[in-house]
Parts: sequence; C-alpha cells; structure tokens
Amino acid sequence: ENAQLKDIISHAKEYGFVYPSSEIYDGLQAVYDYGAYGVELKNNLKRLWWESMTRLNDNIVGIDAAIFMHPTTWKASGHVDSFNDPMIDNKDSKKRYRADVLIEEKAATLERAGKEEEAKSLLAAMGKLLEAEDLEGVRDLIINEDITCPISGTSNWTDVRQFNLMFATQVGSVAEDASTIYLRPETAQGIFVNFLNVQKTARMKVPFGIAQIGKAFRNEIVARQFIFRMREFEQMEMQYFVRPGTELDWYKTWSETRLKWHKALGVPEEKLRTHDHDKLAHYANAAMDIEFDFPFGFKEVEGIHSRTDFDLKSHQEYSKKKQQYFDPEVNQNYIPYVIETSIGADRLFLMTLCNAFVEEEQEGKKRTYLKFHPSIAPVKAAILPLTKKDGLPDKGREIFDKLKYDFNVVYEEAASIGKRYTRQDLIGTPFCIAVDHQTLEDNTVTIRHRDTTEQERVHIDELHGKLGTATSF
Ligand code: GAP
Repeated sequence: ENAQLKDIISHAKEYGFVYPSSEIYDGLQAVYDYGAYGVELKNNLKRLWWESMTRLNDNIVGIDAAIFMHPTTWKASGHVDSFNDPMIDNKDSKKRYRADVLIEEKAATLERAGKEEEAKSLLAAMGKLLEAEDLEGVRDLIINEDITCPISGTSNWTDVRQFNLMFATQVGSVAEDASTIYLRPETAQGIFVNFLNVQKTARMKVPFGIAQIGKAFRNEIVARQFIFRMREFEQMEMQYFVRPGTELDWYKTWSETRLKWHKALGVPEEKLRTHDHDKLAHYANAAMDIEFDFPFGFKEVEGIHSRTDFDLKSHQEYSKKKQQYFDPEVNQNYIPYVIETSIGADRLFLMTLCNAFVEEEQEGKKRTYLKFHPSIAPVKAAILPLTKKDGLPDKGREIFDKLKYDFNVVYEEAASIGKRYTRQDLIGTPFCIAVDHQTLEDNTVTIRHRDTTEQERVHIDELHGKLGTATSF
C-alpha cells in the first residue's frame, strides 16, 4: 500500500470512519464496518445521489428490492455462466491472484518505465486471449512475461481457471429439498424484474428511470486497496428505460450528467477522467467509466452502460412473461432499451475521503483536516463554549437545541478551544461556533471556517440561514 493510502486508512480508523470488520478477530478480508462519522458521511452521499435521481427528475422513481432473488434471475442475466474472473495460484506461496490483474500490474510497471508501446501490446494481447477464453494462453503470457508472485517471488504458477464471483447459500432446511440461491452481485436485476410493476403502478411513460440503493456481494480476490474492492458493498444504480434507437443519445446525456455531479461534489476536474470501453460486455453497445485519481492511480468510480434490451429480453425468454411497453406516442409495443448508471457507495466514499484529505504546514506545524463539501460533511457544526463557567454552557446548549432539528450538530465543552477545533478539523466539520462572554451581552458568536481557519462574528439568529445555505448541494 502506498504511503498516502496508508495515512488515509489509519485516519479513517482513528477518527471513526471505517474499521476492518470483526477486528477483534483480526478482521475479515475485504469486509469493513463504518463508524460514527463514516455512517453519517455515507448516508449523506446516498441521500445526495437519491435526491439527484428521484427529486430532480420527475420521471425517475425509486425501489428497494430484496437481496435474494429467484435463482433463474442469474441464469437470465448471464451471471451463472459468465460472471467469472480468471484465477491463478502460485504453488509456492499458495496465494491466489486474478490473472488479468497480474498482467495489468505488469503493464503499469512497463508504462512507468516509459515502455508505453510494450504495455499497450501486452494489454491488447491479454484482451484477445480473454475474449477467446483462451485460459492456457493467459497462463503462457504470464510465464513469458516472467510475472512473479509478489509474496514468493517465483513464477511457479498453476493453470488459469474461471472462478464465479457469486456467493451461494441454501434456502429451506436440509431435510426438505433445499435449493441454492445467490446473494445478488448487482442491484440492477431487482430493477429489471420489477420493470413492469413499477411502470404500471407509478404510471410511468418511457423514457423513465428506476433508482435503487442496496447491498451487493461478490467473492472478489482482492488487491489490498481498502474499501475500493469489497466482498460486501453497496451499489447505487439507476436504470433508464428508453425507446429503441434513442439509447445512444440518452447514453451521452447521462454520461454528461453524472460527470457534472462528481464535479459539483467538489472533485477537481484534473482528478477525474472518463474511459470509454473498447471491449464491451455481452449486453452493452456502449460503455464508459468515470475514473478518479486515487492514491493508487486512476480507477473506476462509476460506470455508465448502454445495456440494450438484453436484460428485459432475456427475462422475457426465461420467465415467459411479456416485458413489453405500449408506447402511445408511436402506437407500438416494444421492449425498452436501457441506459444504466452504476456507482458503488463505498467507492464514492473512498473517493470523497481521498479528495478531502489535506495535510498542510501552517507556521511550521502540520495541520490535517478533511475538506468535505458541507453538504456531505458528517457533522455540520460544532458548538463550543469558550469556558465551562459563567453561563456559557447554557448559552451553547440553547444554540445546539435550536439547530439540532435541521442539522447534525455537536456540542462540546471539554478541553481547550484549540484542541476542540483540531478535533473537528480531523472529522471534517466545516464550521465551529464559539460562544464567549460577548455572546451573553449581544447574542453574537464567532464562526470559524475549517478550510481557512478564519473567523467571523455573526448574530445567533443568522446561524440557521448560514448553515442552510452552506450545506445545500
Ligand atoms: N450493474 C452494473 C454493474 O454492476 P460494475 O461495473 O460491475 O457494473 C458498478 O459495478 C460499480 O459498483 C462500480 O463502478 C463500483 O463503483 C462498484 N463496485 C463494483 N464492484 C465493487 C466491489 N467489489 N467493491 C466496491 N465497489 C464495487
């Protein structure tokens, strides 16, 4: 792990954002828990996404489908047959790797050494082999490129095998005829199988969208990248149903809309880039990723896919239930085409955390703070009486009670004011409201701004309005 990522991971743990799951038992690989400030940040991100979808668009509605779905769902979606990663084991370290990731890492090393052409042709060769499902060829490539195991340092590799990423479990007791079902590997299928239910009951007309936030599960073989790739994670997906033939226009519209959303969150332009897929999944006729410059390089945060009518058509075939929509404008029945926007809540969380993490020198002292956009900051303001005497705590409590119904605010009176400011910086609170003796005389307080540390004096009656303006997206 690189140094900056290490700092971010330990900050996240120390200040109540993210802990390894079941840490007292030494954790569970690629599974994490969110702490007091982490859950607030994550909820804020989810709310922002939800509102951007369902409130700003009167033709997008939400659903909340179950994690368990009928097993035929995953036959129809193609996940049973092709949701696989090519895996390879090193016989000496007994460690398992994704073969494609090993090759990608080699290509990245070549690129860093200025051998860009070699890197490109290596990736192209891998792409061809994977497309042809030539697993022996993939193994040969690993051997020929002299790719060694990061743990043992040897190139004593097994064959490459396909490994399905879905978690299976049993429903029903063993005595009865229990059957295998899967934990959903994407939330999208819950939307597809409910397409007609929602269309009819919410009286939607094409084009319209269905949005959902929920858990998804994948048995990932993980590179150590914290919450970037998890086995249990949350997706925020929106499927937009359109008239066939219009899908590429909608694909363009949604790609632009989603990129703008990331910029509005405060991610600078140079830290974002888009990547068009050359190699398309079996269901897509166009696909792109929005990538963020993580401490470990530019990586996907969100995918926008033009999924054609693949899923609905396939569900129609498997279920024998018509998945058609009657479009009164063109007087036709058709299976709509689908544009999908898909983002991981945890990956968005990591992007937000990396983007907000600031370490700077101020008068020879190091200052660390999280410069979250106030709309997503876990705590919006801290109310801090200067001392514990002279009625200042009572006045502080009074302000706290006024603000708490509309904002997540905290009240703190222990420790010196400087220490309390630092503590709020570390969890990314944009405003600290200090209550002093002057407050008792004229009902004014100071607001300290996190990013500049500058202070201004305002009347108590102005606080609500000021916080409201600052924390709106
Ligand atoms: N329905 C389309 C779909 O699931 P995907 O590219 O596999 O597409 C979409 O996943 C998004 O979900 C990714 O861009 C990423 O943000 C998030 N995601 C996927 N796998 C993840 C994992 N193992 N851990 C965390 N987030 C993940």
